[in-house]
Amino acid sequence: MGIKSIIPSQVLNSNGDPTIKVTMVAENGVTAYFTVPSGASLGSKEVAQKTDGTDSYNGKSVNDSIKLIAGVVAPKFIGYPIGHQSDFDSLLVALDGTENKQNLGGNTILAMSGAYFKLSAKLSEKPLWQYIAEDRKTNPAFPRIFANLVGGGKHAPGLDIQEFMIVPKSNKPIEAIEQIVQTFHTLTTIMVSLYGPGAQLSGSEGAIAPIGASTEVVLEALSNLNAKNGKTFEIALDVAANSFFDGKSYNFEGQSIHASDLLAVYQGWDSKFDLYSIEDPFAEADIEGTELLKTMPKDKKPFKVIADDYTVTNASLIAEFSKDKLFDGVIIKPDQVGSISEMFTAIDAAKQAGLDIIVSHRSGESNDDFIVDLAYGIGAAGIKIGAPNHGERIAKYNRLLEIQYSLNSSQEQLDSTLDLGQKPAATPLESTAGKVAAMAVPTPVEKISVAPSSVSDNTISPRISASEPVIAASTPAQPNESLASPAQPSEVSEIGAAPLATKATPPEPSQPTTPVITHVVTVPPETPMPSLPKEQEVPSGSSFKNATIALTPTARAAQENPSTAVPPVSGL
Ligand code: PGA
Ligand code: ZN
Repeated sequence: MGIKSIIPSQVLNSNGDPTIKVTMVAENGVTAYFTVPSGASLGSKEVAQKTDGTDSYNGKSVNDSIKLIAGVVAPKFIGYPIGHQSDFDSLLVALDGTENKQNLGGNTILAMSGAYFKLSAKLSEKPLWQYIAEDRKTNPAFPRIFANLVGGGKHAPGLDIQEFMIVPKSNKPIEAIEQIVQTFHTLTTIMVSLYGPGAQLSGSEGAIAPIGASTEVVLEALSNLNAKNGKTFEIALDVAANSFFDGKSYNFEGQSIHASDLLAVYQGWDSKFDLYSIEDPFAEADIEGTELLKTMPKDKKPFKVIADDYTVTNASLIAEFSKDKLFDGVIIKPDQVGSISEMFTAIDAAKQAGLDIIVSHRSGESNDDFIVDLAYGIGAAGIKIGAPNHGERIAKYNRLLEIQYSLNSSQEQLDSTLDLGQKPAATPLESTAGKVAAMAVPTPVEKISVAPSSVSDNTISPRISASEPVIAASTPAQPNESLASPAQPSEVSEIGAAPLATKATPPEPSQPTTPVITHVVTVPPETPMPSLPKEQEVPSGSSFKNATIALTPTARAAQENPSTAVPPVSGL
């Protein structure tokens, strides 16, 4: 079975920024798609994500990539047999020909690679997670959910720490998700009572951004809630220290401090609030921080140290860092490395090193729920999916539920869930009513810095319609074809490729001067309970929506006349 057509399109991610979606159709009509996520807090060694750098969408449009896929990349793969992932990916990587994938762009490579992988899984007629488990010879298991409930850093105004997460001890989605939702709503109520209604506004991963709160206040609130709930979860941080390191010191909560001071701060929080893990505790470029990690006990650190920006889903970096046992776990994000095969190589390297594997979304997401099947299929230790808030995060929560329902042997329970729209039986949690009033309310800070909130919640489903022309196979590649010949940059030059646009870094929106206000927050004796969701979304049974297909105008132009519609050669 070969590929019949490949349809690239520019769609929007959850930040309202353009991204690439590739829809791939097999000769028998079976269709799969992949939409590329994108991050805001980046590791320096992530592969390049190519954007147009024009005025369109403040430099972030990906129309050149759409043309490149339609006119250059796709024709190589029409007729290509499905189910040969590593050959397919090797051809893509060779077609790019650079270390950091700057020619095609990691976003083009992942869109192609991910769509091909999902199409192979669909043709197997197995659930994606099962296809992954059989392909990778792994044991499926539910990951523990790392739910980011409070955000800062590059994701939201206010706090310097990027993510305050809770990690339910139960890995069963039905149980863990109810805990997460209840904790999120209760915490939101507390933060609103302390910092006003603005505290319920959320950042790019759906986590609330309580302007004026300090790290300690948030940790104390989480810790108290946990204690009241019978310690059903653990607390984890993603510090994303790159984002407040200026090359010499850390600008943390109004002070300029060094790695050793920051470590002392972490140790203080750990002794008070018992932290489970800290991700990226120091900046990649901070040699002092890296040296400090080396001095921590190798197997018994006070909290787990997780690498994200340090290792960027790169097998060599994971192997390199694990020599010194600097980390206990590693974040896996497919877009950091580009192809699905390279991502699996990174996962293998992490396993080899005995590291916890935590599969992760990005701050700019779509409703694509691939990472959930990935995490369950490989039996990952954890999955990061943000807060139970915003459609693109909810898509991941719901996919976890959907997988658990599909495994549920009790048809009766499943039927009642489907028919009555009721929640499936979960281990009952102690009611949270009264807990908020009973908890020790964190001491409010007196000086509150108020910064403007910039929040967006745009999840736009790509519009697709039917029966567009199939991209002609000019020189289709074959599996096992020598990397030197099939998809060489010189061949590409004949057809033409997108110019090597430098990655656009549009100017930051100008921030109004931050006013500092001083007031005393009075906490009501009884904080009203937030309303909990009344209905459970009915699992669809399949993540695939039978959709019709249309090309974007730029993709269509490229198909109709590749030699003119595709931007001029230069560079590939
Ligand atoms: P990003 O943040 O997706 O904005 O890079 C996520 C993370 O740092 O884990
Ligand atoms: Zn991170």
